[in-house]
Amino acid sequence: MRLSQSCVGAAESAALCRVIEHGYLGMGTESIAFEAALADFLGVPAEHVAAVATGTAALHLACQAVCPRGSAVLVPSLTYVAAFQAITAAGCQPVPCEVLPHTCTLNYHDAAQRLAALRAHKASPPVSAIMPMTYAGNPYELDSLHHFAAQHGLRVLTDAAHAFGSKHKHRLVGSFGDITCFSFDGIKNITCGEGGAVVCSSAQDCQRIRTARQLGVQGDSAARAAGKRILDPEVDEQGWRYHLSNLHAAVGLVQLARLLPEFAPKRKALAARYCQNLQDVPHCSLLHSHEQDDIVPHIFALRIVAQQPALRDSLRQALAAAGIESGIHYKPCHLLARFGKGTPALPVTEMLYSQLISLPLHPNLSLEDIDQVCTILKTVLLRAR
Ligand SMILES: Cc1ncc(COP(=O)(O)O)c(C=O)c1O
Repeated sequence: MRLSQSCVGAAESAALCRVIEHGYLGMGTESIAFEAALADFLGVPAEHVAAVATGTAALHLACQAVCPRGSAVLVPSLTYVAAFQAITAAGCQPVPCEVLPHTCTLNYHDAAQRLAALRAHKASPPVSAIMPMTYAGNPYELDSLHHFAAQHGLRVLTDAAHAFGSKHKHRLVGSFGDITCFSFDGIKNITCGEGGAVVCSSAQDCQRIRTARQLGVQGDSAARAAGKRILDPEVDEQGWRYHLSNLHAAVGLVQLARLLPEFAPKRKALAARYCQNLQDVPHCSLLHSHEQDDIVPHIFALRIVAQQPALRDSLRQALAAAGIESGIHYKPCHLLARFGKGTPALPVTEMLYSQLISLPLHPNLSLEDIDQVCTILKTVLLRAR
């Protein structure tokens, strides 16, 4: 049983064939249509959305657009390394922060302390932004975090790779706030195969991002939207080849239409079944996100809290022996050689790294599959009591 999986079929194949028959595979009408469909879904103006090649590209472009080179960005260490690499690719410095144990989302009180410490020292880089991550699809405290950022003059670049379709206080993630970055890689809530998007609260930021995604060629996005090419290019900023192709966008358009009728209810039902099965099982500590109907869960992560430090790993072995994949989201970035090798220490994050386990979650699974995973979990955990 796979931990995660693309959920694609005949409709996606037909869309790909249509693009191939039409003959233009690069960025063009499908890419523009996908951008417009995303804007429509989120209820934001079309000129506030930039569809891009990957979620990592979205984060990189967002940082480059609003964080001066040499500035620092507050970011949870418990995230995918894409976030840290995107920050350094933009010439900035990631400042790893703690997360909250019950949600695994950024602890902004911890971020506030790190911000104060940095600002107290003249030699420290200026802090320009904060990059919360919607762990498992949970936009927990995003509004308070924006409030905190506004008070301290920080931009908010939300890494919403896990949260496409999730809502915070009845508003879709991406429909409010400063800048939101999505990933549409193969296993996300919707996929383009590979893809991503940046959603900006200002058309001006979005324009810069659209230009930077087209190698910095001014007006190239608008020209392609009109089916034209720029023959006399002008470039005055660093850009990248980060556009979304027609092929990928065509898959994304089909997937977007499937999110609300198929994927979101399925993911919610599977996560609810896990919660039902595991709520009273010893050593299982469920995350807060699992209780919320507004969340489209991207992963199902929980904590194994026990005296025996090896229990989480024995559990993973028992699942593997039954042919069931499990995962750990994530190895904290501050433990990686490139990003500090464990300095400074982040005790909560390091504790979570030893406790977290992610169980299979994708729309191809059935409720019976979830019961099978839970039976193994219960057997191992009840034995360990
Ligand atoms: C939290 C998080 N951020 C960023 C990314 C990067 O997205 P992509 O793989 O589309 O580059 C991912 C992808 O797995 C992710 O899970």
